Amino acid sequence: MTTSGHEISEAAGFLSRAKRVAVITGAGISAESGLRTFRGAVNADLPADMRALWKEFDPATLATPEAFGRDPAMVSKWYDWRRLGCLAAEPNAGHASLTGLQERMEAGGGEVVVLTQNVDRLHQRAGTRGVVELHGTIMEWRCTRTGTRMTPPDVAFEHYPVASPYAEGGLLRPDVVWFGECLPEAAVRAAARAAATCDVFLSVGTSAVVYPAAGFLLEAKEHGAYTIEVNPESTPASGVVDASLRGTASAVLPRLLAAAFEKGATL
Ligand code: OAD
Repeated sequence: MTTSGHEISEAAGFLSRAKRVAVITGAGISAESGLRTFRGAVNADLPADMRALWKEFDPATLATPEAFGRDPAMVSKWYDWRRLGCLAAEPNAGHASLTGLQERMEAGGGEVVVLTQNVDRLHQRAGTRGVVELHGTIMEWRCTRTGTRMTPPDVAFEHYPVASPYAEGGLLRPDVVWFGECLPEAAVRAAARAAATCDVFLSVGTSAVVYPAAGFLLEAKEHGAYTIEVNPESTPASGVVDASLRGTASAVLPRLLAAAFEKGATL
């Protein structure tokens, strides 16, 4: 089911009057760049190499500090494989739309803050500024002993686990947040502020089941923001938001923003 013109038009009206917009994105916005999501029924129709990651792999053996402690070679190799996939991917029309929204609103004295659970850096590559990375990034790795961060070269590491160049006995690990780890404090503060002060909160391509990220939409709603979800499937957020727009990010976002730009006002 795709969303109707009426639903788009109503949501666009709120967007066109907003001064501050907060957007949270998840793996779905990068699906049309060829990157696999973690969950989501929509993946059942896709070829095996595009099926949801957590349907093929067990997060407990890959995405926890304990898993890295048990088998750092296997975990590093898996994340390096994903890192190379992110490097090969290109931002799509969904990412570009959010950059366009940010530029347009900033030119009119407004603000758009993009909070992402994605580690792929595609928002930044599409030109969005000030992206808040709630789950870190796979494009940087850090030393387990010193915490020093580095950007790996654009090719696979030669050996796994990856020996740290910064401290004897240290290893490099991806600078992502694993299950059981805290989110970066500055990112959580920035997200909480954006949720508490926005007029419109837009949730794009996330299954809305992983906390605390999923909670920012609820915070925004409590503070009186108009809430919009863009997702081809229904999620736990669908019954909560003011507008649940069904469809892919690259199809719905350009329509939504074009309709908002047409309505003009502060945009
Ligand atoms: P999920 O994989 O849980 O959810 C992806 C969502 O995107 C699903 O609801 C899909 O229906 C939707 N989707 C699929 N294709 C889409 C498209 N083209 N346009 C828009 N939406 C689409 O991804 P996240 O919600 O990002 O954490 O997952 C949250 C966290 O769970 C991730 O950051 C990761 C994962 O475990 C860690 O690894 C710690």
